[in-house]
Amino acid sequence: MILVTGAAGFIGSNFVLDWLAQSDEPVVNLDALTYAGNLENLASLEGDTRHIFIKGSIDDFDLVAKLLAEYQPRAIINFAAESHVDRSIHGPEDFIQTNIVGTFHLLEAVRAYWNGLEDEAKASFRFLHVSTDEVYGSLTKEDPAFAETNRYEPNSPYSASKAASDHLVRAYHHTYGLPVLTTNCSNNYGPYHFPEKLIPLVIHNALAGKPLPIYGDGQQIRDWLYVKDHCSAIRCVLEAGKLGETYNIGGWNEKPNLDVVHTLCAILDQLSPRADKQPYKTQITYVKDRPGHDRRYAIDASKIERELGWKPAETFETGIQKTVQWYLDNQSWVNNVTSGAYQSWVGKQYCAEL
Ligand code: NAD
Ligand code: TYD
Repeated sequence: MILVTGAAGFIGSNFVLDWLAQSDEPVVNLDALTYAGNLENLASLEGDTRHIFIKGSIDDFDLVAKLLAEYQPRAIINFAAESHVDRSIHGPEDFIQTNIVGTFHLLEAVRAYWNGLEDEAKASFRFLHVSTDEVYGSLTKEDPAFAETNRYEPNSPYSASKAASDHLVRAYHHTYGLPVLTTNCSNNYGPYHFPEKLIPLVIHNALAGKPLPIYGDGQQIRDWLYVKDHCSAIRCVLEAGKLGETYNIGGWNEKPNLDVVHTLCAILDQLSPRADKQPYKTQITYVKDRPGHDRRYAIDASKIERELGWKPAETFETGIQKTVQWYLDNQSWVNNVTSGAYQSWVGKQYCAEL
């Protein structure tokens, strides 16, 4: 079996759903169920004995050690993290605790477990660390896309904490021989994306008749990948990645934020027109820019394509259409995750301006 951390979150839950749709290999899911973790994402697995959920933190050495001894996983995929840049600006501490200290404690427990394995199990064991392109910093319009050889230049508390975790993972390979793999992926979008992030927030606000907040001039560029393509890339790296290597994952889909929001508005105009027949883009509202806002991210995904034969299945156009449709079909999921604590976050982040 495999142990997946943070699999009640956006990407982790998509990963588990895809994994169990394609394989009968059981998954132990260790998730602390922070505001971003939601077991409803995995409701379709209720009663499925191949999914074992454990509520707990990667930061809890004793718990992780106990789970490893009990379930004897052949691989660990580490999604668990605090993941939202804006939250890391308001309060970096949780990011340091989970992304750095948590990863460290997880690595320590895994190292002890791995050291005790028999030769064959030891040789085939894998620790795959899921990271982000944000560790490379910000590009100008003219710069080439991020390659695996780019220098780390993280600019936000979030990206700095992820960079630190990547370095720890690397060090555990070089120092202790732990069989690690690291992936650095661009911005994901798709089902179960928490509506604090741009794409689900815009869909949610549009349908609720609320402002669509654009930070600064809206010309910041992100490189978007449909979440199921990220999941297939992780499966591919887990199976065939070279130990100690890092793989950049992206879909060659660079878009300015404003274009993304216009695309979302146009799709919603077609699929769910406003009662007054006005276009959704009239709800666009410019707000104060994010402090230290990275201007452009772009992933050069040629290494994973060349060495492992991975390619995304979705274009931005097909993926975004599916995503909007998913949110329209799953309004109750959105309503559930946007009650309670979500409201106070929106108040803190946007209320001064909107
Ligand atoms: P998310 O915030 O939706 O989910 C994170 C999950 O981790 C939640 O279920 C949360 O409960 C859990 N968690 C948090 N702290 C924990 C802890 N101490 N122990 C156990 N579980 C804990 O995040 P996501 O968007 O699904 O991102 C998953 C991973 O992928 C993160 O490591 C992130 O850095 C990385 N990543 C995300 C993107 C993206 O666009 N979302 C892109 C590249 C890489
Ligand atoms: P986000 O989804 O938070 O991802 P990240 O910061 O990790 O790239 O934001 C994507 C882009 O959208 C980023 O440039 C910030 C911008 N943005 C807005 O303009 N308005 C918003 O309300 C949010 C949440 C993000």
